Amino acid sequence: MNLKEMVGNKAAEFVQDGTVVGLGTGSTAYYMIEAVGKRINEEGLSITGVTTSNRTADHAKKVGIPLKNINDVEKIDITIDGADEISDDYQGTKGGGGAHLFEKMVATHSDEVIWIVDDSKLVHKLGAFPLPIEVVTFGCQQVFRLFEEKNMKPSFRKDDKGDMYLTDSGNYIIDLHLEEINKPHELATWLNALTGVVEHGLFLDCVTKVIVGTEAGPEVKN
Ligand code: 5RP
Repeated sequence: MNLKEMVGNKAAEFVQDGTVVGLGTGSTAYYMIEAVGKRINEEGLSITGVTTSNRTADHAKKVGIPLKNINDVEKIDITIDGADEISDDYQGTKGGGGAHLFEKMVATHSDEVIWIVDDSKLVHKLGAFPLPIEVVTFGCQQVFRLFEEKNMKPSFRKDDKGDMYLTDSGNYIIDLHLEEINKPHELATWLNALTGVVEHGLFLDCVTKVIVGTEAGPEVKN
């Protein structure tokens, strides 16, 4: 079993009957969705899923997870999602799959947030993985120039055809190749205040549990 499948299966064990579950996006969340679908079909588990991307919604429907729009639930009990990097102090970056806007909305309104990763995602300091910034298309070149001026090494994300990558909300993504993020909270505050930025991939102080896949088995860190 690969490590992503291992943590996806483990995370599905934390899903309780009668709860509202935020379903993350990506190749690790994929296995969690498979495992939750299996529990619904084999154990009669009853849950409501809230999805974080069109991709995840399609997948969840296929495996038989009943879904509701985030606007139609009071709150989300637990969200399970992947991550691109997790630092020693459990801060994270996300958005490698371009879904961080919906992922952050769902995580923000969840009582519990579990990240599932293989051990390659654990880092001392964030920043080696490019930090995604979702920007509105209007004026995006101005925002890009500002990042260039600040030596933040921006690049527009492209899709498989080489066209501008479009998020589920119809925005673009600028990836910042920062290499090291020394002050994540300061950077997040600056990005939050930047006009044209819809959401960035810094997920700070939001995770409650991390499940790490290792060759020895899944490690659950609270
Ligand atoms: C999507 C994400 C993903 O959770 C993150 O990129 C990790 O993906 P994977 O499990 O495929 O490595 O944030 O926007």
